[in-house]
Amino acid sequence: MPQRPDFAAHRAQLLAHLAEDEAVLLFGGPHHLRNADSEYRYRADSDIYWLSAWEDPEVALFLRPGDEPFTLFCQARDPEREQWTGVRPGPEGAIAEWGADAAYPYDALAEHLPRLLQGVATLHYAFGREHQHDLLLLGAINKAAKAARHNGLGVPETFHSPRLLLHELRLRKNDEELLLLREAARITVAAHKAAMAWAAPGRFEYQVESLIDFIFRKEGGTGPGYNTIVAGGANACVLHYTSNTQELRDGDLVLIDAGCEYGYYTADVTRTFPANGKFTEPQRQIYELVLKAQLAAIDAVRAGQPYNAMHDAAVRVLTEGMVEIGLLEGEVDTLIHEETYKKYYVHGTGHWLGLDVHDVGAYGRKGESRPLEPGMLCTVEPGLYIGPEDEDAPEAFRGIGIRIEDDVLVTDGDPEILTAGVPKDVEAVEEACRSATPFTGMVSD
Ligand code: GLY
Ligand code: MN
Ligand code: MN
Repeated sequence: MPQRPDFAAHRAQLLAHLAEDEAVLLFGGPHHLRNADSEYRYRADSDIYWLSAWEDPEVALFLRPGDEPFTLFCQARDPEREQWTGVRPGPEGAIAEWGADAAYPYDALAEHLPRLLQGVATLHYAFGREHQHDLLLLGAINKAAKAARHNGLGVPETFHSPRLLLHELRLRKNDEELLLLREAARITVAAHKAAMAWAAPGRFEYQVESLIDFIFRKEGGTGPGYNTIVAGGANACVLHYTSNTQELRDGDLVLIDAGCEYGYYTADVTRTFPANGKFTEPQRQIYELVLKAQLAAIDAVRAGQPYNAMHDAAVRVLTEGMVEIGLLEGEVDTLIHEETYKKYYVHGTGHWLGLDVHDVGAYGRKGESRPLEPGMLCTVEPGLYIGPEDEDAPEAFRGIGIRIEDDVLVTDGDPEILTAGVPKDVEAVEEACRSATPFTGMVSD
């Protein structure tokens, strides 16, 4: 079982940034039906989880500095429902085991919220996410305002998005969170190595996905942190290809974008390798260019550097390389300035990573990229995608899609690649493809 981070410390950190008349109100995400009366497995909202470790649906959390800062609304105990869906801690459990100072049934929100909101001038709340929650809050403010006419206590008049404070805190990972992220990375590394060894012409993309899923769960993860991509051949040019239905063919590259979620934190890794274990010359040329861009970008992930420096580094290397190999024509600075490179490189070079695969935290302010700080974790994932029908591209490159993605921690010194264990240079990748055993680097039998 993953060690849980100290969620009381997360709450204390947030509360320390709030004035006496500020509060935070968060709701958990809805529990969706998959079809008919079958539900998707519930996965807690990351803000709620980061502040409380609460994992069940129908939850709201209210935090305000004071003697009893932490109020939780949650599903009430219900022996009949619990027989079907498992034990509910209920408000009693929330107080006894989750550290809540006060807890009430979720159904009692409308009753208690007006009282809690009295005297709150600034509320941190995500308007526009869920209509029902907005209505409930506005109704509660209305009630509180009526009471305020008599008791003189104010009601919220200023609203801040959780992005401004809470997400800035989540952006900087502490040591406990990094332990979980390192474990997510370890399992992800093992799964990618296994996939390289086992994928082969004649196997189907979904079969390779199943091996990845197996290792994620076998090694203690909860499963993929996002939909796994196993894309053979030109399928790799579809950026969010997740159907994973096709047979791998001799001569195909295989692009796998898969990350294990462990203790709610996810890795996010992409590797591209030859199904038959040997890059063709055109595949190798594009691969080495993407790799060169990735290494240049990783080198820019340093404290004090602007976040965008890694993207700028990747774009420059990719553009220079595309001119060299005849994918683009023209002067490099102009191709960059006019964004001509976007014909083959359409996405950004990375994103924050943590509880969410595209994790929270601003990338900059007022159009300016923010400086990186130790503890921030991002992906670095340049790629090139040359459509099979692209008549502007030399024929040998058509249908090649390559991305290389690692998870990189900003430190006081050199960037730390949490996922460095997945083979990356051409020789290492080909060797991993030749490996007879897919099951290496695992801790459990
Ligand atoms: N796997 C999603 C991404 O790389 O952003
Ligand atoms: Mn990514
Ligand atoms: Mn990815």
